[in-house]
Amino acid sequence: MENQNRRVATLTLDDGRSIELPIMSGTLGADVIDIRELGKLGMFTYDPGFLSTASCSSEITFIDGDAGLLYYRGYPIEQLAEHSSFLEVCYLMLNGELPDAQQHEAFGNKVTRHTMVHDQLVRFYNGFRRDAHPMAVMVGVVGALSAFYHDSIDISNPAHREISAMRMIAKVPTIAAMAYKYNTGEPFMYPKNSFGYVENFMYMMFGTPCEDYVPNPVLVRALERIFILHADHEQNASTSTVRLAGSSGANPYACVSSGIAALWGPAHGGANEAVLKMLEEIGDISRAAEFMAGVKDKKYRLMGFGHRVYKSMDPRASVMRRTCYEVLRELKLEDDRMFQMALELEQIALKDDYFIERRLYPNVDFYSGIVLRALGVPTNMFTVFFALARTIGWVSQWSEMIADNERKIGRPRQLYQGAVRRDYVPIDRR
Ligand code: SDX
Repeated sequence: MENQNRRVATLTLDDGRSIELPIMSGTLGADVIDIRELGKLGMFTYDPGFLSTASCSSEITFIDGDAGLLYYRGYPIEQLAEHSSFLEVCYLMLNGELPDAQQHEAFGNKVTRHTMVHDQLVRFYNGFRRDAHPMAVMVGVVGALSAFYHDSIDISNPAHREISAMRMIAKVPTIAAMAYKYNTGEPFMYPKNSFGYVENFMYMMFGTPCEDYVPNPVLVRALERIFILHADHEQNASTSTVRLAGSSGANPYACVSSGIAALWGPAHGGANEAVLKMLEEIGDISRAAEFMAGVKDKKYRLMGFGHRVYKSMDPRASVMRRTCYEVLRELKLEDDRMFQMALELEQIALKDDYFIERRLYPNVDFYSGIVLRALGVPTNMFTVFFALARTIGWVSQWSEMIADNERKIGRPRQLYQGAVRRDYVPIDRR
């Protein structure tokens, strides 16, 4: 008997044909209309930018853009940022549950023992100019990892998926720090197994062979929180890129490399770098009002503001603002002019109808650049830090997709607006 509880959306065309499309509900969030049968009508849906399209089902991250909620495996981001560690979030994202003490230790030890990269990989850096943008280096070197692990890129093998995930969680920080050192001309720093994950990354970034590196626990905790905030974010542009690449069966290293490339764009992960450039161009807090008038005249975009999903405050931005203040206070930079300017721009926007009507609020990128700059990170490394943190999200979403028996190669359709059929005209008759 037809399931009486089955909910459907009935689509009726202007020629009288109609189709019943099943309505599906998740555990949280909006229902979806399953349009997979729509092809029977010889029609497709049209949704450039996927504003109203769910590309997959997932159990990893949930966002409520109106309420400003972000959950990783059901845990609110504010609680994870306050109480968890980045490695614990990595375990949670990959496995679906928080680890117990024994699982947490074993996971951390496994990651630690994969932080070194093959010594041949070092040669890839020499192929780049010293002033190469570190994101270009990341795309190249992470993609090249697949050339070193032919023994474990059978994506149908769960053990190969697991070791690939561990290698990327462990090696991306090493590759990122090497990209920075290559830019500065300082020697590469090998990972130090006695350091924790974030300490080790800061050691490889800011340590030198000439003296002992003593991590500042306040700054380490701040960076740990920044990584937690950036770990995953549903089907954003870079994660969707990783899923689409992975749907063809490409190896995980190549898929993550494609995610890094997509993240680089200023509308996406490149926004934190764009925020700093914007603040530097404004120059002084006295010019904030003039700049905001220019934004309303559509002369500029207020970088770090607005979001496709969040139509209220990005919950990560609130945690980031607090982290920003903690770091500046620790470094005795509370009156940092960039921070003061950012706070002024936010205050102006939160009271101005132009931004309120368009539901434009600070996103995760608005304050992150200011914190990273205060930590001594050069602007061209900001998105590298974002990519380092998002690697766990990409890898977890990729693993979830590969393990899905319903997986199909991603192949969107189109609305064709080009020339209709016509015959070839020889050049002497054109
Ligand atoms: C990230 O998807 C994710 O989850 C991404 C991310 C993640 O964790 O993976 O959260 C990380 O990418 C955060 C976003 C970082 N990008 C920026 O900060 C760049 C600046 N923001 C915008 O370019 C924009 O807000 C987007 C790209 C983030 C979202 O754009 P949408 O949803 O496509 O919205 P839109 O461009 O259609 O804008 C709607 C209106 C327009 O005005 P009108 O044409 O209606 O008059 O809002 C205006 C836009 O002009 N608008 C802005 C604005 N963002 C949107 N106006 C000024 N400044 C802005 N930043």
